[in-house]
Amino acid sequence: MRTVTSALALALTVALPTSAATSSQEASAASAAEPILAATPPLGWNSWNTFACDINEKLIRDTADAMVSSGMAAAGYEYVNLDDCWAEKERDPATGRYVAHHERFPSGIKALADYVHAKGLKLGIYTSAGTETCARTMPGSLGHEELDAQTFADWGVDYLKYDNCNNQGVPAQERYKAMGDALKKTGRPIVYSICEWGSNDPWLWGDSVGGDLWRTTGDINDSWSSVMSILDQQVGLEAYSGPGAWNDPDMLEVGNPGLTRGESRAHMSLWALLNAPLIAGNDIRSMPAWARDQLTDPDVLAVDQDWSGRQGAKLRDDGDTEVWTKKMSDGSVAVVLLNRASAPAVIGTTAAELGLPQANSGYAVRDLWTNAASASRGTVRAQVPGHDAVMLRVSAGGTTGLPPMVVVDVTPAKPYIGGAEANAVTVKVHNDGTTAVTRARLTLTAPAGWTAAATGSVQIGSIDPGQTGTATWLLTADRPDLGPVNVTASASWTWRNQLYSGTAAGQFTVATAPPAGASHLSDLTWLYAENGWGPVEKDMSNGETAPGDGKPLTIAGTVYPKGLGTHAPGRIGYFLGSRCSRFTVTVGIDDEVGDRGRVGFEVWGDGVKLAGAEATGAGAGVPLDVAVDGVDLIELRTDPVDGQNYDHADWATPVITCT
Ligand code: GLA
Repeated sequence: MRTVTSALALALTVALPTSAATSSQEASAASAAEPILAATPPLGWNSWNTFACDINEKLIRDTADAMVSSGMAAAGYEYVNLDDCWAEKERDPATGRYVAHHERFPSGIKALADYVHAKGLKLGIYTSAGTETCARTMPGSLGHEELDAQTFADWGVDYLKYDNCNNQGVPAQERYKAMGDALKKTGRPIVYSICEWGSNDPWLWGDSVGGDLWRTTGDINDSWSSVMSILDQQVGLEAYSGPGAWNDPDMLEVGNPGLTRGESRAHMSLWALLNAPLIAGNDIRSMPAWARDQLTDPDVLAVDQDWSGRQGAKLRDDGDTEVWTKKMSDGSVAVVLLNRASAPAVIGTTAAELGLPQANSGYAVRDLWTNAASASRGTVRAQVPGHDAVMLRVSAGGTTGLPPMVVVDVTPAKPYIGGAEANAVTVKVHNDGTTAVTRARLTLTAPAGWTAAATGSVQIGSIDPGQTGTATWLLTADRPDLGPVNVTASASWTWRNQLYSGTAAGQFTVATAPPAGASHLSDLTWLYAENGWGPVEKDMSNGETAPGDGKPLTIAGTVYPKGLGTHAPGRIGYFLGSRCSRFTVTVGIDDEVGDRGRVGFEVWGDGVKLAGAEATGAGAGVPLDVAVDGVDLIELRTDPVDGQNYDHADWATPVITCT
C-alpha cells in the first residue's frame, strides 16, 4: 500500500522539475513519515502456477527453505506467497474469521508466518474481492474486508493478493478500496496486490485505492504464446508505474515445463525490463540449475529493481523481431532483442535510436546473460535464437580495453524449401567495433546428409570498423529428411594479437507442398502450430487440455466436419512452395463457449498480411477467400481482442487449392 502521492505525480516531477517542485517536496515529506511499501518491484514466489490447489504447510515451509538454500533470498527474493485454497470452505461460526484448511495447514497460518519470518522472509496470502475465491474452495472477503485484513495482520501476513472472482457485480474500485482501507487500518505494512486482470484499467486507480501492484491482464500459463500475448498487452502502460505502484504482467513461468530455456530467458528478460514484480511460479525445491541462474541473475534483477522514472517499453516492432529498452538511472540503456519466430534472426538497433549521447570512444555493450563485454561504434546487434532474447546493457564510453563487438550471422536464402531443392546460405561477420580486426576466416558446418560448397573465398582478412565480411555456401542433399536443417557457422579473427571466435546458428526447413487440387488443411501436416491452450485440434474444436478433447466444430449452429480447432493466441504455418492459388475458410468462435470470446483472425503469406476478420461468440462465421499465388509459407494467426478467455477460434473448412 502506498500512502503518498501517485506514481504519475512522481513521474511528472521528473519531467517537469519546476512546476512540480511542490508535490515533489510533499512526496518526500510524506515518505519520510511513512516509507513506501514495495518501493522496488516485489520479488518472491507464489504457489499457483505450479501447484494450483495442491498446497500444504510442508510445501510452503520447504519452499521457504529452498528460497534460502537456492540463493534466491540472497538475490533479493523475499515473499513466499500462498495462492487459492489455503482456507476451509466455512468461516469460524463464532468469530466469522477465516479458518486455515484443517488438512493442508493443520498448524495454522500464524505458525507458518513465524516459520517464514525466522528464515528472514515474508509471507503472502490470497483471497478474492468476491463471495468466494476463483477455485471456489474458500470464502472471499467481499463484505468482510476489515475482519479479514485484521486476521491477516494478526497472523503476521506481509502481502495480500486480492482476486476478482465472484464479485457480485460490485464496482471494482469500490471493492478494492474497501480492502485497501482495511489493510491500512490494521497498521501493519501489507503489500497490496490487486488481481483484477486489467478488466477496469486498474493502472488508472490502483494506486489511489492503496494498491502497490495490479495485474494488467488475465492469467499467464507456461506457454510461449501466453507469455507473448501478455507482453503485447503491456504496450502503452509504461506511464502508469512507479515506486509502490507497479504494473503486474502476472507471475513468472520461468523454469516451468511448457517453456524452453530460451523462452524462459526471454520471459525473464522482458519482465525485468518492465519493472514487473518478479514472483517465481516454478517448483524452486527441485529446479534445474539453469532456472535458478535465470531467476537470480544479478544483472538482470538489477534492471528490474532500477527505477529510473519509467518502466521499459517497446522501441521497435518489426513483426517477428522486436527491440525493447529501458533507460537506467546511471544513463545506460537496458535492451532486450526479442525473436518471436522459431528460426534464429539478427536483431539490432543503434546507440542513437537508444537515445544515448554521442560518444567518440564508442559504447560499452555488456551481454547480461553471458557477461561478455565489447566496444561498439554505434550499432548494437546480436543473432538471437528462435523464441529467445538477448539482453544487453549499453553505455556511452567506458570502452577502454574492450575488444571490438563482432557479430556473426547466418541467413539461409529461403527459410523453407521443398523436396531436394538446393539452398544458399550466407554467413556474415560484422565488425561493429571501433578498431579493425584482422585475419578473419569463416567456416560453415554442413549438417549430416548435406554437402556445403563455398561459392568464393572464406578467408576474409582484415575488417575495418563498420565493415562486414561475407561468404556464401550452396547446400545440397539428394534425399533430405523433412524437417528443420540446422547449420552452424563460425568465424575467427585476431585483435591485438589475440585470437577471437564466434559462432552463429541458422535454420531452414525441408517441407512438402500440398498435392494438386483442393485439400483441407486439417488433412495436411503443418510446419508448426502454436496455441493459447492445449494443442490445435484437427476436425474438432479446442478442448483446452489434452489432444483429441474437443467437440464437433460448430459456429452459429452450423456443424463443420473439417477444420482446425484452436484457442487464441495461435499461429499455424503450412508450406505451399509457391504451388497454390487460393485459400478459402470460414472463421468463427465455437458455439461451445456460448456468446463469449472475441478473436482477430488473420491469414499471412510470407510475412505479409493477406486477409483478416474479427469474430465474436455471439456472431456468425465469417468467410474468407484469399489469393495465395507465389506464397511459400501461409500462416493462420489468431489474437485475443479483449483477453484470451473463451477464445475458442475455429478455422472451418480450410481449403487450399494448388496445382
Ligand atoms: C485467478 C487469478 C490467478 C489465481 C487463480 C486462483 O484466476 O488470476 O492468478 O490466483 O485465480 O484460483
